[in-house]
Order: sequence, then C-alpha cells, then structure tokens
Amino acid sequence: KNLAVFVSGGGSNFRAVHQATVSGDVHGNFVVLVTNKHDCGGANYAREKGIPVIIFPTMKGKPEGLSANDLVVALSKYKIDFILLAGYLKLIPSELIRAYPKSILNIHPSLLPAFGGKGYYGTKVHKAVIASGVRYSGPTIHFVDENYDTGRILAQRIVPVLANDTVEELAARVLRQEHKMYAEVAAAVCEERVIWREDGVPIIQSKA
Ligand code: GRF
Repeated sequence: KNLAVFVSGGGSNFRAVHQATVSGDVHGNFVVLVTNKHDCGGANYAREKGIPVIIFPTMKGKPEGLSANDLVVALSKYKIDFILLAGYLKLIPSELIRAYPKSILNIHPSLLPAFGGKGYYGTKVHKAVIASGVRYSGPTIHFVDENYDTGRILAQRIVPVLANDTVEELAARVLRQEHKMYAEVAAAVCEERVIWREDGVPIIQSKA
C-alpha cells in the first residue's frame, strides 16, 4: 500500500513506522510527506530517505500557498491508500477527509476521549494527565474527522502513570508504546485487517 505521512515535529513515530516498512513488518511504502514546518526533523528524515516533501500550509498570507484543493490534487498523483498523521499539529481540511474516506489515521498520546481536543497537544497532554491524578494513560490511534481527536478509535494501549512522574518521564513511556502501536496498526491497515462494524466502529482483526 502507498502511505503518506503528515508531520510537524521530530517525527519519531514516522521513523518507527518507516523502519517497519523497510524491515517488511509493514507492507507499505511511504511515498510522500506533508508538513507545515519546512525544517522539522520528520521532513529532514524524509529528505534523507528520498521521500518527496510537500509544505502545507505555507506561511499565512503567502500568495503561492497551496489551497486544500491544491493539496488534494498534488497528493492524487501518489496513488495514496492511507494517510498517517504523526505529530501534525494543524487541522486536516475537509476536502482531504472527503478525498480519503476511512483512510486517515492520527496518533494521540492520551486515552481518548480523555485529554483530547484543541489545546491538548505535545507536553500539555501529559501535564494535564499528571495534574488530574489518573493512574493510567496511553496512546490512541483513531480515524480522522473534521475536529481534533474526535474520530473513531481504532487502537489504544494502557501505560501506567507513576506517583512521581515528571511530564518528560510519562511522555517518554507513552512514546515508546506509540512507536510499537503505530507500526502494528499500520501493518493491520496495509493488510486490510480493519473491518467496520455495522454501528460504525472499526475493529482490527488479528492475523489468521
Ligand atoms: C506524539 O506524542 C503523538 O502522539 C502526538 O505528537 C507526538 C509526535 O511525536 N500527536 P513525534 O513527532 O512522532 O516524535
């Protein structure tokens, strides 16, 4: 399957899934990366690997900026099967969601619907988790709809919150699980092991 990835930052999740495509654990190829930050770690890693990079959106007010429709057109030539958001901090335009129905996934570092939505990104999520006193957190992978973090949940993994955790410690513990989970979910998606229950809930079938 052809995969696109959207990143805004370091891109450790993208690297983890990319490595799983190289090792053969994920039967997919990253064919393009989209970023709003020209010089971020994720985009630089893609350039090193020879994966084309598209900047979207470009800086506000720039006349040459791509519109959402331009992006859909630009992506169409890559014959993309699935889009993975991996630390992409902008809202996905509805034009893109319509062009790739049931095909866009995001990873979020809390057990959604808790600690999700606009404003919950980066270390803010883990800070709020620690402040709330919950004993468990962990990543969620979900399909993307037109709001932040509200699409159908596909996978979650439980990570303990320890009594004296710092934000950095909790973030690192969750991130390790993100990398494993995103590679496993990408493998399932590429093997067409996601089925949609009649009530609209997506389920991953384990390997036969
Ligand atoms: C991850 O914690 C992810 O859950 C969130 O943004 C972070 C991205 O990290 N959406 P990285 O760029 O993959 O290292």
